[in-house]
Amino acid sequence: MKTDKTCWELIAPVLLLACVSGCSEQPKADRDQPTITATAQQQLDKVQSVATEVEQAAKTTMKTVEAELANGAAKVDELAQHVEANVTETVARVEDAAASPKLDGKALALSKGCIACHKATSDGLIGPGWGGLAGSERSFVDGTTAIADDAYLRAAITNPNAQIVEGFVPSMPAMPLTDAEVEALVEYINTLK
Ligand code: HEC
Repeated sequence: MKTDKTCWELIAPVLLLACVSGCSEQPKADRDQPTITATAQQQLDKVQSVATEVEQAAKTTMKTVEAELANGAAKVDELAQHVEANVTETVARVEDAAASPKLDGKALALSKGCIACHKATSDGLIGPGWGGLAGSERSFVDGTTAIADDAYLRAAITNPNAQIVEGFVPSMPAMPLTDAEVEALVEYINTLK
């Protein structure tokens, strides 16, 4: 009995040790992992450096694309503003034209009765002929002279008796005319050579 016990006492720690070392043994996979060789390490380094380069290139490209996009957006903005200005201007012009249709000086001379006293030629009637009037020198009964520019023609129409053209009697009536009508008449007289 004594011997058996001694024998068991001898075996037990061995078994225990075996068990403990068996349990604490590393998993098989870890144990079998291949060690990285120098060549493999070199290749890995290369791959990593290439990856860094690619990343850098991608970043640069992104920056370029972003800059181009911003530039393009600015250009589109500019264009849009230009188009908007053009549209606004065109609308304003159309509204203007609609508000004050272009007056026809020739038609006005007829409708306002000017042609009862004025001819479109240089021949005088009750008043002086309009042909060649624009730009010519006028002589007045008071001895003064003036060049028949737009301002003179305007004044002659709106304030007829302020200056009486030599050779004529003050018989032209001051007629109610709008500024636009006066302008149209002046424009028409300017066309008569
Ligand atoms: C009843 C006749 C009569 C009518 C109508 C008449 N005029 Fe006259 N006009 C004259 C006479 C006369 C003169 C020259 C005397 C003077 O200077 O007032 C004259 C002068 C002028 C002159 C200056 C001519 C020059 O040789 O320097 C102009 C311009 C003119 N008339 C424009 C018009 C216009 C435009 C109308 C129509 C809206 C008009 N007249 C209607 C009689 C008339």
